[in-house]
Amino acid sequence: MSQLSTKHLLGIKEINESDIQLILQTAANFKEVINRPIKKVPSLRDVTIANVFFENSTRTRLSFELAEKRLSADVINFSSSNSSVKKGETLVDTVNNILAMKVDMVVMRHASPGAPHFLSRNVKANIVNAGDGTHEHPTQALLDAFSMQEKLGDLAGKKIAIIGDILHSRVALSNIFCLQKLGAEVMVCGPVTLLPKYISSLGVKVELDVKKALEWCDVANVLRIQLERQQIKYFPSLREYSLYYGITKKMLDSLNKEIVLMHPGPINRGVELSSDAADSDHSIILDQVENGVAVRMAVLYLLAGSKA
Ligand code: CP
Repeated sequence: MSQLSTKHLLGIKEINESDIQLILQTAANFKEVINRPIKKVPSLRDVTIANVFFENSTRTRLSFELAEKRLSADVINFSSSNSSVKKGETLVDTVNNILAMKVDMVVMRHASPGAPHFLSRNVKANIVNAGDGTHEHPTQALLDAFSMQEKLGDLAGKKIAIIGDILHSRVALSNIFCLQKLGAEVMVCGPVTLLPKYISSLGVKVELDVKKALEWCDVANVLRIQLERQQIKYFPSLREYSLYYGITKKMLDSLNKEIVLMHPGPINRGVELSSDAADSDHSIILDQVENGVAVRMAVLYLLAGSKA
């Protein structure tokens, strides 16, 4: 199979294992390309892509833009904070006006869960979800899976613990769907107030003790405490969270095994991860960022060629 089953990437829930494997294999080819002295290929020379961001981003926005430029696409960037959205323009009107400038694909980050799904039903362009509220962040899960495979090979049967603020995380849900489709065992770990009530219905193990989670897993994917989404107090203080759930290099070194440490960024240093853990030999956090460009190149390239 050399084509995706879809013309949009809305979430990992909507794609199948073959789609995921195709994206990961294509990303491996692009990773080889972007490590050459000449990093650019002409694959999307006649394609125009709009990066439409209604929420802040460092990694995802820059990584998509670089991926698009490495593929020779024409790129425009939209940020809601200095746009006519501030004058009351709707999402569909905003995107249709961008598309009127002959844009083929829209990469969108939005605070509302389901916003990319809504857009895909109302505009004529390929839509890529770059994070929709607390729902999904599919390219993050794909780059996470790619990075895990680089360290561990086939993920079938591997044990992945997702640790931290699961309740407010779009990375958690996309990772759970992606890893399960690849045959991995998934555990979530965090204080009970930061675990959604429905979580065990997704077929994941649930653990409240971070030390037990670290002893169980091959990979610890640690998530940020998302204070900006927390309207009430879910734990007494950041100091207490760090005391019970913060991961240090000493904890990782004391395990009687190899463990891979991941984090999607941005990190709250000294809260979910100590600086010495984040910067340790266990960590592949910057490899994740590097791999993001190749994975996003693969997604854009395959969607541009999709006949779905
Ligand atoms: N991991 C991630 O989505 O980071 P940004 O919010 O900086 O894009």
